[in-house]
Amino acid sequence: MHSLDVTTTPWVSVGDLLPSSLDWVNAVLSDFDAFLIDHANCERKASSMLMSFVAKYPDRTEIIPELIETAIEELEHFQKVYALMESRGLQLPHKIPQDMYMQALHGLCRHGRDERFLDRLLVSGVVEVRGVERFKTLSEHLDDEKLKAYYDKLWRAEATHGSLFVEMARKYFPDEVVLDRLKWWIGQEGDVLLSTPIHAKLH
Ligand SMILES: [Fe+2]
Ligand SMILES: [Fe+2]
Repeated sequence: MHSLDVTTTPWVSVGDLLPSSLDWVNAVLSDFDAFLIDHANCERKASSMLMSFVAKYPDRTEIIPELIETAIEELEHFQKVYALMESRGLQLPHKIPQDMYMQALHGLCRHGRDERFLDRLLVSGVVEVRGVERFKTLSEHLDDEKLKAYYDKLWRAEATHGSLFVEMARKYFPDEVVLDRLKWWIGQEGDVLLSTPIHAKLH
């Protein structure tokens, strides 16, 4: 773990992250409806987050088309999870509970304009890889054939998102700077994950 180097492609993938615990899998399986609602919110938030990059960094024109394209992709994921929710008679909540995992990670982003831009890109990349790891793990443990196929398809669809953010960072920062900070974020993500209570949520 954390043995990334510039010769590895992609720079970050599922194997670089701390594996999810069986306790997490069991928590999700024991309240799948709650998980589904949280998952839907995460897809919607992922789409908004991509669009917030467009709003906050309009001068980073090289990455804007890809940000928009990925925001649409995440919105389509939201549409699918919402349809799944509907088929189970579930509704989105009025108030979204705080996401302690995301809050902790965002709290670690630095404040200088360039530093913050790099951190926001890399933390987004690592969080995407965590999503892939969790969807993949779930697909391996679900019994319901329809849900299993759904999560199997989803992790494959999400599989490039982590490196997408890393590649965006590489357009604006030297490789060594990106790699050093990426390794740091991978370590931090593992620590934050371990300190987040286990519940029927994506994080
Ligand atoms: Fe997604
Ligand atoms: Fe994604």
